[in-house]
Amino acid sequence: MTTRRILLATALGVALATPLSADDNERVRPVTDPLTRAECSACHMAYPVGLLRSQSWERIMGTLSDHFGEDASLDPASTEAIRAWLVNNSRPYAKPPAEPPMRISELRWFKREHGSRLFTVARVSKGIGSISNCQACHRGAEQGLFEDD
Ligand code: HEC
Ligand code: HEC
Repeated sequence: MTTRRILLATALGVALATPLSADDNERVRPVTDPLTRAECSACHMAYPVGLLRSQSWERIMGTLSDHFGEDASLDPASTEAIRAWLVNNSRPYAKPPAEPPMRISELRWFKREHGSRLFTVARVSKGIGSISNCQACHRGAEQGLFEDD
């Protein structure tokens, strides 16, 4: 691990340094549950579960009918199954903020890694459209791989 990756791991709450899946050090935990993967990649890629804390997933799953301006609601059984999988496969904040962040792209480490220039590039580029389109720049994003490529 380079120093920069160690800093990033710290920002992610040691999700990289002490991985949830023991066989892979450098990978952010991806979505491996088939239902979550299917339902949460209908409009965008399935964001790796390791990139948000449990309370953030909880908040996202509690507000699907108004999900970033879209109605992403599901039937109650699917909502509960996905909520439980996301929450059980991410790390909780020890002291959760009053309003846990709902965007990876809002997190401090993310802004530090990307900088305002990249946000602008993403917004104005046809084919990217938004910094939230991780895969446009990180081919392995859905698999949890963000190495320099
Ligand atoms: C109906 C379409 C739709 C579905 C289905 C959907 N989303 Fe989204 N999601 C969006 C839109 C639109 C955004 C905002 C994207 C942007 O700003 O470019 C978004 C953004 C997000 C973000 C924030 C990305 C960032 O900027 O860091 C997360 C996390 C997220 N969705 C999780 C989920 C999860 C979990 C599910 C499955 C339960 C899901 N989404 C299903 C439309 C959807
Ligand atoms: C417009 C292109 C672009 C988009 C879109 C983008 N990134 Fe990045 N990202 C970069 C660049 C460039 C870097 C810095 C790469 C480097 O220096 O290794 C970076 C760095 C990172 C790193 C740190 C990698 C490391 O090894 O230190 C992570 C993690 C990351 N991005 C995650 C994401 C996620 C998650 C999304 C979507 C929510 C995203 N990125 C969207 C371009 C982008």
